[in-house]
Parts: sequence; structure tokens; C-alpha cells
Amino acid sequence: MSKQRNSKSAKSNVSKLASDQPQNCDQDQSALREGKDETLSSPATRAQESFSVYYVSLSVVVVLVAGLLAFSVSHRFKNSVTVPTKADTKPKGLVLLTEEELSKHDGSDPNVPVYLSILGRIYDVDKGRQHYEVGSGYNVFAGRDSTPSFVTGEFSREKATDDVKGLSPEEMLGVKEWLDFYRKDYIYVGKLIGRYYDSEGNPTEALKEAKTVIKEGQKLKKLQEAQNKRYPGCNSKWNAEEGSTVWCSQNSGGISRSWVGVPRKMFKPGKKDSKCVCIKTTGPSSDTGEGNDGDLNNPTMKQYVGCGKYDVSCKL
Ligand code: HEM
Repeated sequence: MSKQRNSKSAKSNVSKLASDQPQNCDQDQSALREGKDETLSSPATRAQESFSVYYVSLSVVVVLVAGLLAFSVSHRFKNSVTVPTKADTKPKGLVLLTEEELSKHDGSDPNVPVYLSILGRIYDVDKGRQHYEVGSGYNVFAGRDSTPSFVTGEFSREKATDDVKGLSPEEMLGVKEWLDFYRKDYIYVGKLIGRYYDSEGNPTEALKEAKTVIKEGQKLKKLQEAQNKRYPGCNSKWNAEEGSTVWCSQNSGGISRSWVGVPRKMFKPGKKDSKCVCIKTTGPSSDTGEGNDGDLNNPTMKQYVGCGKYDVSCKL
């Protein structure tokens, strides 16, 4: 049955070959005329043919495998030869850095990301590199901890320090605000081993003290805000002809209120300098909750010279 099918297809091949290449294929044609067909060759020839087919196929497979191997080796080799990028110099995960390690991130090498430390917490500030790199205004912070400089304005690398001892609660609150800024805007890298974290990454006494002063600053700020509501600041202006004028209005000192008040000099306890505030002239005293003259009788509030008790505006 298979033989029949073969001879049938051989015939169709004959007519095709005969029509396509009648003059050049004498040998083939005579073979075909004799009823010889490539599929109908002797067993020895067939064995020889299948043997060579086998070798040809094997060679093709070998060439393909070798090609694939060569491709994968060259590909792998290509991947292994990488140019170091900034990503490579970034530590993976949170880390503890020594001062020396941090100093490499001082903005002097364009291939190394800029880091800074504030109260021992390290941030990757490479996004804002232009502010911190060598020669820029805020390079004092790059590759080191210069925490006090955030509030003292000491921008010399030689003079700057990481020691916040001696900063006031208000100044430490300023440090905390910068810390919040870096938390929000930049990537936290890890901790600096030194004044604020030990070699295990645990907070030191210096950090605990710093946090206590920050808390004091927060308490003072709340008190200050409450006081500003009670005694809002005055408006003020100055010109050469009239000199200084202070006055009260319903929005002076940034506090919106129903009352206007009158200007008074408010002295901070134990201090000589004063601040112009607006005080109520009616209702109970803000301090004692008693009386009906507002804060007119508060002993820490002084009238401006030449200004009447109920004057809303005073020329100084
Ligand atoms: C103690 C005083 C100051 C400190 C500690 C300080 C610190 C900084 C720092 C760390 C940055 C970079 C912020 C970032 O990474 O995006 C910055 C940016 C800047 N600062 Fe100051 N600064 C001070 C005073 C001033 C003053 C007085 C001025 C203006 C007269 C000023 C104007 C600017 C400006 C324009 C920028 C760039 C803002 C931007 O491009 O987004 N700074 N400052």
C-alpha cells in the first residue's frame, strides 16, 4: 500500500520534473522511464542514503546546539561586564555607616550619591545634588553630620560640628522640622555610628537628650500658640515722615477674631525686650478670668508713651 502511494507520487514527480527540466535531467528521466524512483532504490542504497541523512541531521543539530551555546555564553559574558552606576554604590537595605564611609558621599564624586546625616539619621539627597555638591551653598551638610548648622547658619565645613549641646528648645524644634523635611522629601539610608547611634545602631544618651530638648520646644510652641491667640501681635509700619506706627485690627498678628483690642508692650519675664500685642479692653481677664476690663490691668502689659488707654493706633 505504501509502495503504491510512493509510485503514485513518483509519477506526479515525473510529470513535474519532465515539464520543468526536460533537457537537463537525462539521467533522472531515464531512471524514471525505467520505472526507477529514488524511493524505490536498492536496500544497500537506501541504507547508505538514510545513513547520510542521519549524519546531515546530526551535523545540523550539532551546529544549532553549538550556536546556542555560543550565544548564551556571549550573552552571559556581556551581562557580567557592567559599567558601575550610582545604583551599584547605593547600599541595599538599611545600613549603619561609619563617619569615614559617609564621608565618601560628600558630593565630590559624580558617580557616588550624596548623603547627609541629621541627628545621626542618614538620607540620600542625590535628588537635590545641586544644593549639596562641592562648591554649592549647602555643601557643609554633604557626607557628614552638621546638624546644628541647620539652625545656626554655620556653613563652613571647618567650623561646623554635629554637637547640638547648647541649642535652645526653639532651635531644636527647628532641627526637628529639617528632619521632617528630609523624612518627607528624601530616601532614608540608615544610621551614622557616632554621636547619636552606637555601633549596634542603638540611640546614644546624646540622642535621648536631644529628643528631650525637642519635646520642650514642642511644649513651648504650643504655649506660644495659645498666647498668640490671647494676645495677638500688632500691625506695624514705618516711614520717614511719620516714623513707626503700631495698631490693632481684627486680623492683626495673623489671628482672626471678633474683637480689635489696643496696642500694649508685652515684656517676657526676665527680659528687657518687648513685643507689641493687642489686648482686650472688655470682658474677663485672660489670665485670671475675673473682672470686666479685659487685660487692661495686666501688670506685664505697658502702655506706649503718648498713646491713650483706649487708642487703637499708636505713633512711637
Ligand atoms: C540657617 C539658614 C538656612 C539653612 C540651614 C538653609 C538650608 C537649605 C537647604 C538644606 C536647602 C536644600 C533643600 C533641598 O534639599 O531641597 C536649601 C535650599 C534653598 N534655600 Fe536655604 N537655608 C538657609 C537660609 C536661606 C536663606 C536666608 C535663603 C534666601 C535668602 C535661602 C534660600 C534657599 C533657596 C532659594 C533654596 C532652593 C530651594 C529649591 O531649589 O527648592 N536659604 N536651603
